[in-house]
Amino acid sequence: MNLRSIKEADIGGKRVLMRADFDVPLEGGRVVDDTRIRAVLPTLELLHARGAAKIILLAHLGRPGGKAIEGLRVAPVAMRLHELTRVPFELRENLRFDPREEANNAGFAKELAGLGDVFVNEAFADSHRAHASIVGIPTFLPSYAGLRLQEEVTQLSRALTPPKGAVAIIGGAKFETKVPLLTVLIEHYTHILLGGALGNDIIRARGFPVGVSTVSATPAPEVLARSDRLQVSEDAVVAEAGANAERTCLVNDIRANERIIDIGPRTRAVWGEVVSHAPFVLWNGPLGVYEEGYRDGTDAVAAALADAKVRAVVGGGDTIAALSKHSFDPAKVFLSTGGGAMLEFLARGTLPGLEPLKV
Ligand code: 3PG
Repeated sequence: MNLRSIKEADIGGKRVLMRADFDVPLEGGRVVDDTRIRAVLPTLELLHARGAAKIILLAHLGRPGGKAIEGLRVAPVAMRLHELTRVPFELRENLRFDPREEANNAGFAKELAGLGDVFVNEAFADSHRAHASIVGIPTFLPSYAGLRLQEEVTQLSRALTPPKGAVAIIGGAKFETKVPLLTVLIEHYTHILLGGALGNDIIRARGFPVGVSTVSATPAPEVLARSDRLQVSEDAVVAEAGANAERTCLVNDIRANERIIDIGPRTRAVWGEVVSHAPFVLWNGPLGVYEEGYRDGTDAVAAALADAKVRAVVGGGDTIAALSKHSFDPAKVFLSTGGGAMLEFLARGTLPGLEPLKV
């Protein structure tokens, strides 16, 4: 995909309006993970070095639902950004305090566009949202791709044409929303390892009992369930509903009152091997019930990936957190800032926010 790069823009003396993704975790009014803030630094430095008259940053934080929420003000982000750079900037208040942002209201987009002469989209992680600051502003201003957004597109485009023998690991939930993605992946990836609730859907579709495990309302399509490229766990860690006691069993031995909470030790070892011999790995989504603390399976595969030193593209907050506990080679592993945006780009090959930036 060929995008107009900010490197080619004439920005000397101009007011540059830049949409960033600063949807970062906060605790006690401070940013606890500044990865997404650091991601925009190269573009900020470039704008400054090229003589931008003013840099105005637009961002959202959380889902305030169209009204001001004290805990979702962007001040902590501005504070962190000031600690990271000397480039002068103005960060506007949370865009989603105004209901017109998510409604992609043309009047709101025009108002925002009036703040600048040139627009830069440096918010890959939000480019799957057809919101005013993503798709509306480019209808009013010359618009360019930020350096990080460009890098995301390059890396994820490569992930769409991986080398033979490549491995995709997909976890999380909501099978119905992942069907387009899995349909694309089975074309290009030799092994697709499915964990989390997605894995439960395939285990069920293959005729194994899943007890009271989380499953999707709609069954997995036959064509996916039958594909020998899709692999699910051979063994699982299970627990009785409402109880803490765990046991490990083969997936054909799950009892009616039990639910799958993680991939089992045998699967961890097998998947670790598969990953360490892969020419390329794509990974998004945890393999167990991560939010309840069942993280051992995800951590074991993350350790194998870090050790293996294979080329990889990894996305999604929980997956990145798991991998970041291990020492991996940043020259080999690309951490995507996009969660939902990464999955949608892989499934569709584009995003609404990228379309206006195409050459
Ligand atoms: C993200 O955190 O993935 C992006 O900021 C998008 O947030 P949203 O899902 O609330 O649109």
